[in-house]
Amino acid sequence: MKGKIDRRAPPVPSVGSYLRALAMRLRSGTWLDALEALRAGAGDVFRLELPSFRAIVIAGPASIRTALVEAASCLRSRVDPDPVVRLFRAGILVMDGAEHAYLRRIASPFFRPAALERFAPAMVRAADRQIEAWADGAQVEIAEATRTIALEVLLEALFGIPGPTEASQLIHLLRAAHAYISPGPWLFHPALSVSGREGPLQELEQALRDHIRRRRASPKGGTLLDAWIEAFRGDEERVRDQMLTMLIAGHDTVAAWLAWTLILLAAHPAVQERARAAVDERLGRDTPSPKALRGLEELEGIGWEALRLYPPIPVLNRRAAASCALGEWTIPAGARVMISLYTLHRRPDLWAEPHAFRPERFREGGMGSRFLPFGAGPHTCIGAPLARLEWWLVVARMLQRAVFEPAFSAPRPRMGATLEPTPGLLVRIRRRW
Ligand code: HEM
Repeated sequence: MKGKIDRRAPPVPSVGSYLRALAMRLRSGTWLDALEALRAGAGDVFRLELPSFRAIVIAGPASIRTALVEAASCLRSRVDPDPVVRLFRAGILVMDGAEHAYLRRIASPFFRPAALERFAPAMVRAADRQIEAWADGAQVEIAEATRTIALEVLLEALFGIPGPTEASQLIHLLRAAHAYISPGPWLFHPALSVSGREGPLQELEQALRDHIRRRRASPKGGTLLDAWIEAFRGDEERVRDQMLTMLIAGHDTVAAWLAWTLILLAAHPAVQERARAAVDERLGRDTPSPKALRGLEELEGIGWEALRLYPPIPVLNRRAAASCALGEWTIPAGARVMISLYTLHRRPDLWAEPHAFRPERFREGGMGSRFLPFGAGPHTCIGAPLARLEWWLVVARMLQRAVFEPAFSAPRPRMGATLEPTPGLLVRIRRRW
């Protein structure tokens, strides 16, 4: 019996693959690139075995889809008492089965594209506030600006909380939460979890509870926050778990997508100019709206290409609740599973010039399972329609009102809670109006 399972266990990369991975890690500065060297040697599904860290890595289009969709009941979202679970508790992202389906049912109506369109003016206003704060020629940390935009929009669109006033209070508290769940030594041993951040985390906790209590006392109606309060009959713990999950999952990801887009445009002035010309032709100085931007091909490919190169959630984590079949392999019960969207998006056998920024490749259409920035299966991103709408409106507004130039040499990603630009990465702004 044991022999049978061993035969079907995914392979371990060779020593040569590990050496190539190490060389890649040293060259590119990110271990995500190193995974490709292991995949190239061992195949789409392989065992990563390091001292104190073992995982099964999945990095092929078919195997990822199988893991996320067909094997979803076996490969569970999160069963470890790791920092992510400790922070989100019973939040939608870490729940499975009937409870997860129930939480999706409550939240889904708030993410319908038609329901979101009424927040378009708030999205443009959030972009305007940042642009107007930039002096012509200023060098700005673009990721900070996009983080503020994303948080303001999320607070307003999902919770009915005034974005500009509340975001400035919450933003540094959320930063502590991000640091808490970012990959770190705890991956190697649970006892090595980050400590010492209790202060801001407690403050965040308090701020959320204050919002929930205020809303319970005077309901606003029509927001996701109100819908949770009603569905959970005021149970503060349950509302807190969903609210915090949505805040973390929903703003840092969009912030990273917007930041990478503007960084890539700064690094590729010809692409930026073409996109701006298309926006100018369509809008002039009019305020961007979903209707006005519909079908603007020059923008579309830029957004997808930024997500391909820098998927904000580059690796999805799962744990095998039981022994699971995955194509020709068996994933043993208890195994940690890492689904690498980053590797998938940069495979040289699936993408020509995989590391190059070539938005036009998305004109060909039909990306299928080789492009999965929002995941797949039951946990597929619920917020994708909000992210897409916001991306279109904010990027169109930025192109209308400013020109972006690189004040960096080579943009490098940092693997925090999301795949974000390294802190301190600056972009020079030329204001148009
Ligand atoms: C560029 C923007 C975004 C990207 C790339 C992204 C990516 C993803 C991915 C890959 C997953 C699947 C995680 C997994 O299977 O483990 C996910 C789930 C999720 N996302 Fe997003 N996301 C984005 C924006 C948003 C926004 C704007 C919101 C909410 C406002 C949001 C809320 C969520 C939630 C709640 C889940 C968990 C869903 C569930 O477990 O059923 N995301 N996201």
